[in-house]
Amino acid sequence: MTLWRWSEMLPATPLHARLDLGAGNTPLVHSARIGRAAGLENLFFKLENTNPTGSYKDRFAAVAISQMLAHCQTRCVTSSSGNAGASLAAHCAAAGIECEIGVIVTAPSGKLDQMRAYGANVTRVEGFGIDDEITRQVFRFLTRRAEQPDTALQISAFCWSPLGMAGVKTLSYELAEQSSSPIDHVFSPVSGGGLNLAVARGFQDLVGDGRLSSSPRIDCVQPAGNDTVAGPLRAGAERARPVAWTTQISGLQCASILDGHELISAARASGGTGHLVSDEQIWEAQARLAREEGIFCEPAGATALAGALQACEQGDLEPRARVVCLVTGAAFKDPPSIERMLADDPVATRTLSEMIADP
Ligand SMILES: Cc1ncc(COP(=O)(O)O)c(C=O)c1O
Repeated sequence: MTLWRWSEMLPATPLHARLDLGAGNTPLVHSARIGRAAGLENLFFKLENTNPTGSYKDRFAAVAISQMLAHCQTRCVTSSSGNAGASLAAHCAAAGIECEIGVIVTAPSGKLDQMRAYGANVTRVEGFGIDDEITRQVFRFLTRRAEQPDTALQISAFCWSPLGMAGVKTLSYELAEQSSSPIDHVFSPVSGGGLNLAVARGFQDLVGDGRLSSSPRIDCVQPAGNDTVAGPLRAGAERARPVAWTTQISGLQCASILDGHELISAARASGGTGHLVSDEQIWEAQARLAREEGIFCEPAGATALAGALQACEQGDLEPRARVVCLVTGAAFKDPPSIERMLADDPVATRTLSEMIADP
């Protein structure tokens, strides 16, 4: 199996500049229990939480930082809701590149600590990611910081860093190789839209060069409190729309459209649609993944499953359809979400004699 198609991602990158911390080649597993309970025989999970820094963003960072190494650049500037920053920080650490990250204030402690542990210079920016004007100004500031030839701005969206995002297309190449029969639906969480656009484009590549006869439907799942893409896609609109987000799901809080318009057109061309779920549905899917599948993921990583289960309940999925849900991030990223899951179930402390008396 050829998992990292470096020749396609980095055509001009010499071998010594190809940084590989082990991103990609993640497992595709058949659902142990949730699929059967929902009446979906062929429900699968793509475990992107098993990437080296715990999220699919490593596919982006591996290519983005390799590209910087190839150009002898020594400073990476980025903005992040958490996972892209953590992933870039790790790859910069391995490459000996300085990493400066502007982070939205709601980024959870797990993601912040991870970026800092890898040695990145992290600043939380008030209003960034929440207020449209402040967000625009932060992007302008970062763009100016990256004007030096030794510096690159790396943001995980096609509209900012298309070469790095090409690395995320490997998700689709792997899915096509790992699945023993054609996939009907890929459900995936959406924030700025880059992830799903990469998945759609990856499948388009495979159809274009004759390796697949058709693309799976690309199903875009968003929390109802950040409906930039899913609602417009479902309603037949052509453009994403900015919203003032209210969701508490970290990683899926994005005040900007980024790749939203292109995603709507790519997802529609695949036959996919949008799905809106509540934060409660996402937290429930996160708990079910842990308790019924043994998969420990952050809430954003459970969002695809919440969307697929809702579509199934609404009769929008054939029972025999081959459905893949992307589990995009690991649970250690978001400790408060685990505290929420376990809030009603504190650990008991007892003496040994109490246990013997009342096992
Ligand atoms: C775990 C996780 N899943 C999904 C997404 C959504 O990706 P995108 O912003 O490319 O739509 C993010 C974005 O940060 C994320 O961290």
